[in-house]
Amino acid sequence: MTSPAVAYATRDGVALLALANPPVNALSQAVCRGIIDGLERALADPAVRALVVIGRGRGFCAGADISEFGKPRPPDAVHLRHIIAAFDRASKPLIAAIHGNALGGGLELALACHWRLAAPDARMGLPEVKIGLLAGAGGTLRLPRLIGVEPALRMMTSGEPIDGRQAAKQGLVDELAEGDLEAAALAFAGRVLAEDRALRRTRDLPAPAVAPDFFETYRAALKKSTRGFMAPFLSVACVEAGVTRSVEEATANEGATFDRQLGAPEAKALIHSFFAERKAAAIPDVPADTPTHKIGRAAVIGAGTMGGGIAMCFANAGIPVTLVDSAQDAIDRGLRTIAGNYARTVERGRLSRSEMDARLALITPAVGYGALGSPDIVIEAVFEEMPIKQQVFAELDRVCPPSTILATNTSTLDVDAIAGATRRPAQVIGTHFFSPANVMRLLEVVRGKATAKDVIATTMKLARDIRKVGVLVGVCEGFVGNRMLRGYLREADFLVEEGALPQEVDAAIAAFGFPMGPFAMADLAGLDVGWRIRKGKAATRPNHLRYSTIADRLCEQGRFGQKTGAGWYRYEKGDRTPRPDPDVEALIVATSAELGIERRPIAEAEILERCLYPLINEAARILEEGMALRASDVDVIWLNGYGFPAWRGGPMHYADTLGAKVIYDAVRRYEAVHGEPWRPAPLLERLATEGGRFADFARE
Ligand SMILES: NC(=O)c1ccc[n+]([C@@H]2O[C@H](COP(=O)([O-])OP(=O)(O)OC[C@H]3O[C@@H](n4cnc5c(N)ncnc54)[C@H](O)[C@@H]3O)[C@@H](O)[C@H]2O)c1
Repeated sequence: MTSPAVAYATRDGVALLALANPPVNALSQAVCRGIIDGLERALADPAVRALVVIGRGRGFCAGADISEFGKPRPPDAVHLRHIIAAFDRASKPLIAAIHGNALGGGLELALACHWRLAAPDARMGLPEVKIGLLAGAGGTLRLPRLIGVEPALRMMTSGEPIDGRQAAKQGLVDELAEGDLEAAALAFAGRVLAEDRALRRTRDLPAPAVAPDFFETYRAALKKSTRGFMAPFLSVACVEAGVTRSVEEATANEGATFDRQLGAPEAKALIHSFFAERKAAAIPDVPADTPTHKIGRAAVIGAGTMGGGIAMCFANAGIPVTLVDSAQDAIDRGLRTIAGNYARTVERGRLSRSEMDARLALITPAVGYGALGSPDIVIEAVFEEMPIKQQVFAELDRVCPPSTILATNTSTLDVDAIAGATRRPAQVIGTHFFSPANVMRLLEVVRGKATAKDVIATTMKLARDIRKVGVLVGVCEGFVGNRMLRGYLREADFLVEEGALPQEVDAAIAAFGFPMGPFAMADLAGLDVGWRIRKGKAATRPNHLRYSTIADRLCEQGRFGQKTGAGWYRYEKGDRTPRPDPDVEALIVATSAELGIERRPIAEAEILERCLYPLINEAARILEEGMALRASDVDVIWLNGYGFPAWRGGPMHYADTLGAKVIYDAVRRYEAVHGEPWRPAPLLERLATEGGRFADFARE
């Protein structure tokens, strides 16, 4: 009996087991059963002398179906581990023929074969760590036996795949197949049979030798980059067991570790983010079949920090883009920055020179709108001032064909007011990129009052095409991400006034898992940006609310952060390491004294609550107002735009793990001390009293 998910055929005494479960040949029950059935049939057939396992369609096998993780299985379910054990018992040669992806369980399947062939551009990897897991079907035992402990660990702890060429060099595959993979695999099987080669079971290969302190050293190095994320260390432990203990013990240990980790908060958080990202693409009133328009040509207005990065996004995706600025020197500067960015990527070996030239050739510089032509979308990234933006939009409305989508990269201004400067508000949308725009994955897609559904659908699709994760948000100050950031930064400043030092706040936030704390981040972004905005709003600032002046005072001293060698920290030339500065400490202590605040030691727990709970409280308001469609969208925003630790699943998932009541009670406590800014959002209050989760919140 063969299952339709795995086709069975024989050619000249060789059985072909072809995985056929589109789109990625995930290891569904039908596929697992099909492989076992095919194996048994081939082993039982005296006419069959060897087996080839191959994938139909786009690739070999992308591994387990993540949506099945953690779900109960029928008692007679076939597990990948059963297949691997059966492969190990097999008495006939087993050959894996790999093209496209062989990832996770897919690679483990191939590792359990006796030989492997691969297309040069096949991608092989164990990406389980990206969802908080580890290889659970022999990968940690077998991969090191083929390519060595360190290269194997690098693949497991980074989750990054290698291509066929590299795999051949490292010994993961035995032969590259340049042309027809199936023919090459059959020919290979023929040679194995003709030469009567002994079966090369990976599990029986000798365990590679390592230096006695290797694992300790590897763990110590890993610790520096993982910031509290534990899953990579499980791979290290299993690989260590794989080379120090018996195969049976190591296999049992790996299986038990995997099964335990499946229920761990880290894995739950990362699996949550995996699905959150996919869910973000779904917009209830803009169905998936909403027509989209092809973006074949783009234009970007403003060749500054953001405009240059946005133009690179288009060029990287192969979309020709005209980059417009109002003056030749601005354009020249912008192009120099872009060329410099690409040159650095080439230096690091991540881009070929010819690819760089091809991308640069897609960017056409222009002064003024004369050379704009007929772009399908224009993204405006000029100065953050309403009159300038409105003037630019009025002009774009005049010169662009009526079908052109006009998008603004504003971070604080009212998209509807910008749309109001045109005769096509339905064609106007916000595209809020994050700096550096060519690097950061997040794109907040801002829906205006009048934005048409096809414009939303097209822009969300564009986000994918330029390899961003688009999240739909509504028009409000700061949209979702920056609006939440305000409370976080406010409390960080207040904590410093009350007794903490910037390095203490940053250390607590970094220990939580962020790449850096608020003060190191402010120094990186430049303190002058916020200063200019605060000065602009000084006249309208409510008098009754507490306001921290320390950042302003630093700016008055010309301390703008890294770019001036001093900000909240001091920096040595050519070094981005923030170093605590006694001058800053003196300024902080003096400010506290002026305010009549008696400085006190502030515990890490208070720092975390004060910085993180305002995120959750504000997000609760955002959800109620419908400025974000769902809690998981807020998570996607903070995971991809603000460095929220991925293994904690985002602020709302984190909130749900703590429970709304814990957060609500703390918010009330801080409200009693600090007043209005800590007023609990009605949704937080409701979830706390009724016991609900943010994940289940849906607006009526
Ligand atoms: N810098 C960030 O981190 C960031 C992040 C998200 C969004 N934004 C937003 O992106 C926009 C641009 O910010 P930036 O940091 O790139 O600014 P920037 O000052 O680096 O660049 C602005 C560019 O626009 C050009 N310009 C100004 N008026 C113009 C006009 N009328 N026509 C054509 N070009 C004109 C300027 O010459 C300059 O090159 C702003 O709306 C800002 O709020 C910035």
